[in-house]
Amino acid sequence: MRMEGKTAIVTGAGSGFGEAIATRFAEEGANVVIADIREDAAHAVASAIGASAVGIGVDVATRAGNIAMRDCAAESFGRLDTFVLNAGVTHKNQSALTVSEADFDLITAVNMKAMFHATQVMADDLAAFGGGSIIATASTAGLRPRPGLVWYNASKAWVINACKCLAVELAPRNIRVNSLCPVASPTAMLSDFMGEDTPEIREKFQAVIPLGRFSQPRDMANAALYLASDQADFITGVALEVDGGRCV
Ligand SMILES: NC(=O)c1ccc[n+]([C@@H]2O[C@H](COP(=O)([O-])OP(=O)(O)OC[C@H]3O[C@@H](n4cnc5c(N)ncnc54)[C@H](O)[C@@H]3O)[C@@H](O)[C@H]2O)c1
Repeated sequence: MRMEGKTAIVTGAGSGFGEAIATRFAEEGANVVIADIREDAAHAVASAIGASAVGIGVDVATRAGNIAMRDCAAESFGRLDTFVLNAGVTHKNQSALTVSEADFDLITAVNMKAMFHATQVMADDLAAFGGGSIIATASTAGLRPRPGLVWYNASKAWVINACKCLAVELAPRNIRVNSLCPVASPTAMLSDFMGEDTPEIREKFQAVIPLGRFSQPRDMANAALYLASDQADFITGVALEVDGGRCV
């Protein structure tokens, strides 16, 4: 049991990568707060996991939402060890020149500003229990960007950079900060990444992945489990590519 005695908050855990990460953490002994803007989805995932999980509806882009998640972990489980910033949004694949200001503002709020709030709200609690781990879901898009997703890609590059800076700044408090960089995965977001969901476009996306398949939520769950566990207690500031070799 690699997460025995630990408590984790996972955002965007109502589906996709977040659901898989939270479920995997619970299998390894963690208590988990399942946070998602879709409250019903958060509660459904928590009930599927059982007594070691609690669901909460929050908007990660707000200070109030982050305080609510932190308080939920404290009240339900009495401590905080791992915070996974996984909730994210994208604009549909299109020219950078046509993305609406509303979509741009949503991307900066959910993908970027949420990290500002979460870090300021969670750091003291993580430090209070001897240190901990912050893990942010970035993307290969932040390392090897493609056209069509410019503003989304840039938000993920920002996340990778913020994690590296925070890794250094929070190291004296024994808080490790790492990011995960998945390649395309068949979750709810994939059709927006592709623009048009056809077998030909899926094939085009898959063709550039040396191991020959999309990433799966279980790949992210296993990578997050490693970074959250004590086995990674000397690993900080890393942008871990979970991409079948795509970024080589
Ligand atoms: N699927 C891919 O191909 C892929 C590739 C690289 C990175 N990512 C990143 O992975 C992360 C998870 O996405 P996914 O692929 O599992 O898709 P997903 O749509 O299944 O999960 C995203 C979750 O975030 C939640 N969410 C959105 N806005 C929120 C907010 N303001 N507050 C709280 N929750 C909110 C959604 O309700 C949803 O449950 C995202 O950060 C995404 O950018 C995905």
